Amino acid sequence: MKIVITGGQGFLGQRLAKTLLSNSDLSINELVLIDVIQPIAPNNDPRVRCLEMDLRNPEGLEKIIDTRTNAIFHLAAIVSSHAEQDPDLGYEINFLATRNLLEVCRKNNPKVRFIFSSSLAVYGGNLPNVIQDHTAVTPQSTYGSQKAMSELLINDYTRKGFIDGITLRLPTICIRPGKPNKAASSFVSSIIREPLHGEDAICPVSKKLNLWLSSPNTVVKNFIHALTLPSLPARSWHTINLPGFTVSVEQMLSDLSKVKGNDILEKVKFNFDENINNIVASWPAQINCHQALDLGFSMDQCFVDVIQQFIQCDMS
Ligand SMILES: NC(=O)c1ccc[n+]([C@@H]2O[C@H](COP(=O)([O-])OP(=O)(O)OC[C@H]3O[C@@H](n4cnc5c(N)ncnc54)[C@H](O)[C@@H]3O)[C@@H](O)[C@H]2O)c1
Repeated sequence: MKIVITGGQGFLGQRLAKTLLSNSDLSINELVLIDVIQPIAPNNDPRVRCLEMDLRNPEGLEKIIDTRTNAIFHLAAIVSSHAEQDPDLGYEINFLATRNLLEVCRKNNPKVRFIFSSSLAVYGGNLPNVIQDHTAVTPQSTYGSQKAMSELLINDYTRKGFIDGITLRLPTICIRPGKPNKAASSFVSSIIREPLHGEDAICPVSKKLNLWLSSPNTVVKNFIHALTLPSLPARSWHTINLPGFTVSVEQMLSDLSKVKGNDILEKVKFNFDENINNIVASWPAQINCHQALDLGFSMDQCFVDVIQQFIQCDMS
């Protein structure tokens, strides 16, 4: 199997690459990682080709996506707060680069499984308590609008037989290792990760705010499930709300204290930031994901498990 990952040096791109390479059922013989930051091959695996490439100027992409390419995971993106601050850059990467990639697939290999990572940020504004598959997308951010536009493109390219596309709408992924990033949701990981590392963290939203989350391992498992799923029926909608679970900031902190004791909560300071709060509070906190569960996608059980996953996978 030959697989391409754009955004291959990012958080989920690297995690997905490692998991794909260790999955003997998939028999990966070539994995191409593309990123504007020079990608690194997990464990120096000789099956990996690392390409430093800006998708705004994708020289050579035509030669990478060929008839041997089974699937593309298109993860490269300008994340939420960054796209809000620099909408032109957001449109170039989150929308125009997606269109360009789709055109290369259409021309070189229309059978390619094109898996796109969209986001719950396509929803916003005055939402029902529980989002259903048919709830209209009404994004309240530049990032959410760009993701929604790409979703439509992928659905139409799939309907026309130009690609074999599946869009996965990701919940907020928590706990992200490393440093805070430019996502509006960056604090969701920081308020757990930094205290676990003995550092202070700032929570810019109300304790009462509810979030729709998934762990990194579950989302990677779901990416791989999307790779192995048979093609969806030709006329069905090719966008899937991935499973997540609802948890409030207050509950997350309470679970952190269950795992590490009450003193750890002193590391979390509250400093309200209206911009961050407005973006994150516009996202849904509960999505009916029965369609995804029926298709065999996985979900996390509880937030304590997510904390334990981080301690075992990312702190050792
Ligand atoms: N992590 C989350 O909570 C979350 C939630 C919803 C959706 N998503 C989506 O999942 C995908 C992966 O997210 P992530 O958390 O790994 O993000 P990330 O920021 O860690 O990775 C994105 C990667 O894209 C690369 N990139 C940016 N511009 C590029 C360009 N011009 N050319 C080539 N590469 C470029 C970046 O260098 C980065 O390595 C993104 O599409 C994101 O929108 C993530």
